[in-house]
Amino acid sequence: MRRRIFAPAIVLALLLFGTQSALARSAPTPTAPTPTAPTPTAPTAPTTATAPTAPTTATLIGHWTFDEGQGTTAADSSGAGHPLTLQGGASWTKGVVGPSALAVTPQQDAASAGPVIDTSQSFTVSAWVDLANTSGFQTFVSEDGSQVSGFYLQLRGDTGRFAFTRLAYDSTAAYGMIATSTIVPQPGVWYLLAGVYDASAQTMSLYVDGALQQTIQALAPWSATGPLAVGRGFYNGSPTDWVSGAIDDVRAYAGALPAQQISALAGPGSITVHEDQVGPALNPTQFGAFLEEINHSGDGGVYAELVRNRDLKESSSSPAYWSAVQDKGAAATIALDSSQPLNSANPVSLKLSVGSLPAGGRAGVANAGYWGVPATPGTTYHLSLYAKAGTGFAGPLTASLESSSGRVWATASIPALTTSWARYTATLSTPKGIPATLGNRLVISTSDTAAAGASAWFTMVSLFPPTYDNTPNGLRVDLMQKIAALHPGHFRIPGGNYLEGNTLSTYFNWKNTVGPITGRPGHMNSAWGYWSQDGLGLLEYLEMAQEVGAQPLLAVFAGYTLNGAVVPQSQLAPYVQDALDEIQYAIGGTDTKWGAMRAADGHPAPFDLRYVEIGNEDQFDRSGSYNAYRFPMFYDAIKAAYPQLKIIATTNVTSRTPDVIDDHYYSSNPDVIAGDAHNYDTTSRSGPKHIVGEYAVTQGSPTGTLAGALGEAAFLTGLERDADVVIGASYAPLLVNVNAVSWPTNLIGYNGLVSYGSPSYYAQKMLGDSVGDHVAPSQIVGGNGNLWAVASTKAGGTTYLTVVNRGTSAASVDVDLAGVSAVSGGISTVLAGDPAAMNSIAHPTAVSPTTRRVGPSGPSFRYTFPASSLTVLSLSTS
Ligand code: AHR
Repeated sequence: MRRRIFAPAIVLALLLFGTQSALARSAPTPTAPTPTAPTPTAPTAPTTATAPTAPTTATLIGHWTFDEGQGTTAADSSGAGHPLTLQGGASWTKGVVGPSALAVTPQQDAASAGPVIDTSQSFTVSAWVDLANTSGFQTFVSEDGSQVSGFYLQLRGDTGRFAFTRLAYDSTAAYGMIATSTIVPQPGVWYLLAGVYDASAQTMSLYVDGALQQTIQALAPWSATGPLAVGRGFYNGSPTDWVSGAIDDVRAYAGALPAQQISALAGPGSITVHEDQVGPALNPTQFGAFLEEINHSGDGGVYAELVRNRDLKESSSSPAYWSAVQDKGAAATIALDSSQPLNSANPVSLKLSVGSLPAGGRAGVANAGYWGVPATPGTTYHLSLYAKAGTGFAGPLTASLESSSGRVWATASIPALTTSWARYTATLSTPKGIPATLGNRLVISTSDTAAAGASAWFTMVSLFPPTYDNTPNGLRVDLMQKIAALHPGHFRIPGGNYLEGNTLSTYFNWKNTVGPITGRPGHMNSAWGYWSQDGLGLLEYLEMAQEVGAQPLLAVFAGYTLNGAVVPQSQLAPYVQDALDEIQYAIGGTDTKWGAMRAADGHPAPFDLRYVEIGNEDQFDRSGSYNAYRFPMFYDAIKAAYPQLKIIATTNVTSRTPDVIDDHYYSSNPDVIAGDAHNYDTTSRSGPKHIVGEYAVTQGSPTGTLAGALGEAAFLTGLERDADVVIGASYAPLLVNVNAVSWPTNLIGYNGLVSYGSPSYYAQKMLGDSVGDHVAPSQIVGGNGNLWAVASTKAGGTTYLTVVNRGTSAASVDVDLAGVSAVSGGISTVLAGDPAAMNSIAHPTAVSPTTRRVGPSGPSFRYTFPASSLTVLSLSTS
């Protein structure tokens, strides 16, 4: 196994002169420092020193432009006479400064005959680098000692960041000094790196794209006596840290080059959008949504029911969220009662027993809703309930929406009950001009003194506000509007862990979630720890997708539950049949059994189902059953019955070739998610496609930070750029009731009254709103080292350029639209602010996009991307 220099695992940090610290490196057998080395102390963080303010002059002593473009010699244009020889097959590629650059892969370099830089004195070394990948240690410029290099201008494998590294003396035992970049490099971007050793200030500084990254204290200068090498380092007496990529315009100076001159070398940076080339076609499914019952996303969320525990199953011991109403001398009790079943699916009812009820008194039942029942001005609420009376309990009943202090916002009358179950409906209309409030309850009561000593039973008490598209048993308007505004192209339903459940008795068994709501038994949402009444069932999930204009992406239960239980192969056939039936319910003709049921449920037309996912995150099934028989059994059966459907696997399988693989990405570190932007650059274009069914930076709660959103946006630029292999992405989880946070970081937050989008919501919306027909390849050069970009074009003359600046300073960049002759104007949309900022119920738009018009221009213009920002330029181009 390859040994690593300076690995933090076996770091010896040395503290010198009270302030100096330095990281040592790993070695197979760490040896004690030589007597000349400082005394080891406990590891400490590197000390950041002040950058030199009074630079000395610097003299160019080596300059390799790599503009030869052929042959095996790179001339030294400084006049100092140190040509480099290309070795091991090192070749040429397109340059960033001048026409060509050095192209290297492992075992290839370009090296001088002897030393160029006196590393014991002040020196500066700079290079433009464009990495093919960001894996491992890669040293761009170094100068050999006898055992190690005198310096390394490099990418570090241990941190994934650029560094200017020195060892204190020419030995693998020496401790190291590492000036590290704050930026995390990505492949395919040109960066200008500059390392400065200032012998008089005893400092080492690293610059990326002209911006100082870190200055540390340095010491014990020594002189490397071997050749200067481009494309590798030197360690333990051998070449190492080979580069894969391009290196251009390498410069060596005697002396510390002033920061201003380093900045001049970097220039302003640029983004070239190659509209003269056609990239991958973008997919209608490119940005999507994913919903499961988590965080009270459905019940107490997008499912608009306002009565909590209407089926009385949230607790088997008490009528949770219900209370007895006993006003003005009345006495009453409530209890769960299974002696008066409505039907076998809903056998439990709420029994109201009235003890006493004097004239002017009131006895009844009240429901507290999901952390309150909302009352908004000028709103009509639809009440329905099943009730039956015991002897003496006649009614009529009064239904009222009232505040906790008894203020009645709306009221309706329910006629006298009978001794048989019957359904009663009424509307409650609030007047205009009342305040919008949440601290309310629904009361069903009687003031009929004859009810004293009598009982009544209630179940499936339901109160709906106006719903999205006015659909009965429908969905909450503000949440649906927010989801619809994302213009999701696909809608993955119904989970997630919720699909799987913890046990075989609690997975999402779709057949129990369709038909009249009184016939739905509900089930324990064991994945997220609360009861699911399944009013939001398969039909409602499918309709939700349709209502926002998305293709449903239907995930079917695949015989694995979160507790690790796996349905044996011999018992899996019924589950496969359930999946086939489920698909038939979604798309079968009305002459089929389940298609007819869909029609009976009110939706005769088939849904636009094209993708079916087998299970969820089956990489957690360590038994191997997914590859061995579960995926093949579902795949074969579905393909046989519905050859037009694309089948999605939730992890890699070899037993069949899935059409698509669903990959999930979560990290609390935005750098990690941003760093995943290039994961699909080298994925085979002839194998399965990929969908990122879940992604999120889990930073902030109940919704995330701007920094998280920018990390995600950077990631999404990569997924969009690789649209030929990545068909879509959806954030997870989509919804969170702020009173019921099962998962830390979510996209849209709400209580019973209001909702808000997180910065991540706006980021996905901005990217989703700017999807053209084709990707236009783009190239970033410099800038501030923190830029991510993707561009696309739309027929009719629209160019979308999406740029993420994750840096803490603005990036002023030359934008060049190659192949375009003019920009007649456009819109810029910017999401920017404090990286730690979040939105909330109280501050719903603290972080939200701003738009402004962009004037006409030529195809090249200078644009400033603000610090910590996501920008979409939507330009009319010709
Ligand atoms: O999005 C939350 C959960 O994360 C999903 O239920 C599951 O698929 C993943 O592990």
